[in-house]
Amino acid sequence: RPHLSMHALDGLVLEDVPLTAIADAVGTPTWVMGAGTLRARYRRLTGAMAGAGLSPSVHFAVKANDHLAVLRVLAQEGAGADVVSGGELLRARAAGIPASRIVFSGVGKSHDELGLALAEAIAHIAVESAEELEILSAVAAAAGRVARITLRVNPDVDAGTHEKITTGLSTNKFGIAYARAVELYARAAALPGLHPLGFSLHIGSQITSMAPYRAAFARVADLVRAVRARGLAVSLVDCGGGLGICYRDEGEGAPAALAGAIRAELGALDVRLAIEPGRWLAGPAGVLLSRVILRKAGEDGLPPFLILDAAMNDLMRPSLYDAWHGILPLSARDAVQPPEAVNVVGPVCESADSFARNRMLPRLGDGAAVALLDTGAYGMVMSSTYNGRPLAAQVLVDGGRWSVIRPRQPVAELWAADRVPDWIAPAPV
Ligand code: LLP
Repeated sequence: RPHLSMHALDGLVLEDVPLTAIADAVGTPTWVMGAGTLRARYRRLTGAMAGAGLSPSVHFAVKANDHLAVLRVLAQEGAGADVVSGGELLRARAAGIPASRIVFSGVGKSHDELGLALAEAIAHIAVESAEELEILSAVAAAAGRVARITLRVNPDVDAGTHEKITTGLSTNKFGIAYARAVELYARAAALPGLHPLGFSLHIGSQITSMAPYRAAFARVADLVRAVRARGLAVSLVDCGGGLGICYRDEGEGAPAALAGAIRAELGALDVRLAIEPGRWLAGPAGVLLSRVILRKAGEDGLPPFLILDAAMNDLMRPSLYDAWHGILPLSARDAVQPPEAVNVVGPVCESADSFARNRMLPRLGDGAAVALLDTGAYGMVMSSTYNGRPLAAQVLVDGGRWSVIRPRQPVAELWAADRVPDWIAPAPV
């Protein structure tokens, strides 16, 4: 993690900012993103593509981290956006991403969302079913517009990732069945209001081996050839996202290897290419700062519980996917304590509210501050206010400067929009 370093005096430093300074000034839990890290990763990814002779359009998967400042940093580097709802579409526009660089995926787009995408004239809509093809044709024709589309195919390839984040199997809800793709492409070309550009695919997330990518790209290349053999034009393949990062010891999905796989399978097709990375760009650029509320002794020689002030409502990934996130103390003094096995948990009233079991960590006392690592993707965006816990603050670091990019949610906001019907008795005084 080149952007994180431990210093004898300053403790854990992100880019050039000591994280204790942020924890002290803003409190905890607080999400911190590194803008310089985001830029460096964007350039590594596009550099690897260029090294393979490719120049795909890059559409950042907004679902991974939707903060306007994050989107703006990436947009300045040239990124567009991959969105999955009208809300994300409008958010990407609010961040200044041109509609011409936005693509729209998702299995259940409402008529309103399709209408919005048409009105905004985004780059393309990835159609995920035969049913949606007919609906979009009707919506576009009624609006007097032409929808640029891809067909998202389900290549029926096992990405070898966690079952809750795999998407390219025929048992998953995503995409058009491979066997029907050619026929539906011909149908799309014949329907009013549709301009088919090509195919999209996305086989899953946190993929670190290239074999499933290659298999999926090869299957899509076959589709391109089959469609062309019918005399239909194909000008675009959108390869989706999914490139994994190194949370623990799984190794990072290598951009150069992905570029090589794309080039090997799709390079000779004479199509424009697109990619939709989310996690790979944003994940390692973020940390979640938290403090130990208290250290509770374990029963009968079992490991003690370190109860943090962050919880599953902030970072859901460990509860939902058994995800492993590195944990480091912020202070150099804490970092040198002899290690012990601990259970790291949050204060939410669920046993699932756990960040790490039997983790070896330096001995940390009450009030010690820690960073949960690699939480820049699918972290803040998946937060809730469960258990009456306001959304945590967000900070952006950029080299040596930092700024609060979203204050901690005021607690009264949690019920401010509640409306009590007037037939309910007034509050007791
Ligand atoms: N494109 C499409 C159509 C997607 O569905 C996704 C992610 C991406 C791109 C970006 O994938 P990435 O490059 O980030 O792997 N919440 C889960 C991950 C869900 C991913 C959903 N789709 C997690 O925390 O692991």
